[in-house]
Amino acid sequence: MERKRIVVGVSGGIAAYKACTVVRQLAEAGHSVQVLPTESALRFVGAATFEALSGQPVHTGVFDDVPQVPHVAIGQQADLVVVAPATADLLARAVAGRADDLLTATLLTARCPVLFAPAMHTEMWQHPATRENVSTLRTRGAVVLEPASGRLTGTDTGPGRLPEAEEINTFASLLLERPDALPYDLAGQKVLVTAGGTREPIDPVRFIGNRSSGKQGYAVARVAAQRGAEVTLIAAHTAGLIDPAGVDVVHVSSAQQLQDAVSKHAPEAQVLVMAAAVADFRPARMAQAKIKKGPGEDDRPPTIDLVRNDDVLAGAVRARADGQLPHMRAIVGFAAETGDENGDVLFHARAKLQRKGCDLLVVNAVGEGRAFEVDHNDGWLLAADGTESALEPGSKTLMASRIVDAVVAFLGGGG
Ligand SMILES: Cc1cc2nc3c(=O)[nH]c(=O)nc-3n(C[C@H](O)[C@H](O)[C@H](O)COP(=O)(O)O)c2cc1C
Repeated sequence: MERKRIVVGVSGGIAAYKACTVVRQLAEAGHSVQVLPTESALRFVGAATFEALSGQPVHTGVFDDVPQVPHVAIGQQADLVVVAPATADLLARAVAGRADDLLTATLLTARCPVLFAPAMHTEMWQHPATRENVSTLRTRGAVVLEPASGRLTGTDTGPGRLPEAEEINTFASLLLERPDALPYDLAGQKVLVTAGGTREPIDPVRFIGNRSSGKQGYAVARVAAQRGAEVTLIAAHTAGLIDPAGVDVVHVSSAQQLQDAVSKHAPEAQVLVMAAAVADFRPARMAQAKIKKGPGEDDRPPTIDLVRNDDVLAGAVRARADGQLPHMRAIVGFAAETGDENGDVLFHARAKLQRKGCDLLVVNAVGEGRAFEVDHNDGWLLAADGTESALEPGSKTLMASRIVDAVVAFLGGGG
């Protein structure tokens, strides 16, 4: 990605130390990063740390470096402003339009996307004053991330934790790729997402697995949650991904466990996104003891009988038709396809859409360096009404934002 001007505002919360990683990662990605801490933030992390990590001087007040008029210029020139952590106080000052330090003045002059990553105690986060401030900022077009749940200052836990730096920067990169990628348009919707690859046990140490990293499904869950949905993510095995902030994650292993979790959560959901790579077959029996290789070179390898797993996607479509999923309005399937002598990728994908009966099908061409285990993706989106659109190449988070757009359009169209 080309070098962008990013302002990282840091306000005075205990999570200010995590801003160091946010700054470091953005600078390492080649961007020009200017850190604007509040006076309180500097009681948590020293200016020298931010100056060394960003390679730029750090000021807090509007009267430093006056000939450059930084209180106006920094905001005007920025491509993106990220405030991490955003304290309750900083959110309130931003809503009030205060300009009593360099960061808040910059928030008034910036016309680029602004991303707030709030972090505070649960009581502060849930206070009506903060709820209203968050809602006002969203109405004005800012992106205010849902905090993660977990350990806060001291020993208590709950929602209010700053998401990990990697996750904040995932959203920062998304807004640089696509400034309007995170509208708050899924509030009140329950979205169920499956992701990752299942493992079908052969014996206590071996399994049949697949190469799904879970990245695409996690990205869909992450984007849907930040667009306001209540998201449950049923996560099979992934490449060590971070649980997305603001998402309820249910970890499973086998296709059967994934099926059970979908059956449990789907009746509440309005949207189901089946991004998981669910094994089609499993060993008919799992050996209770490790299958031995045998001492001799000529010992015959064991034969493993396979049986079919239920088709979770087709099962959900059937359950909806039978009236068992009263709230379900959009079912999205995924197809990882290769062309063969019978037809190209789209030919097979169209057949799959017909067979499965879902509303939308995300199609990826797989093969050398494509779709699996990588961070970028491209493909097509096929709808049951016959419309087809290309998903332009980009990060899996960008792809997720396009997929969520399609879901929102489908819901809006009375789907
Ligand atoms: C140890 C400590 C931890 C704090 N952590 C937070 C926090 O995580 N979130 C928050 O909103 N305020 C927190 N505060 C309170 C803020 O520092 C205080 O509201 C301050 O005025 C914020 O100033 P600023 O928004 O200008 O940075 C903390 C205060 C202390 C002393």
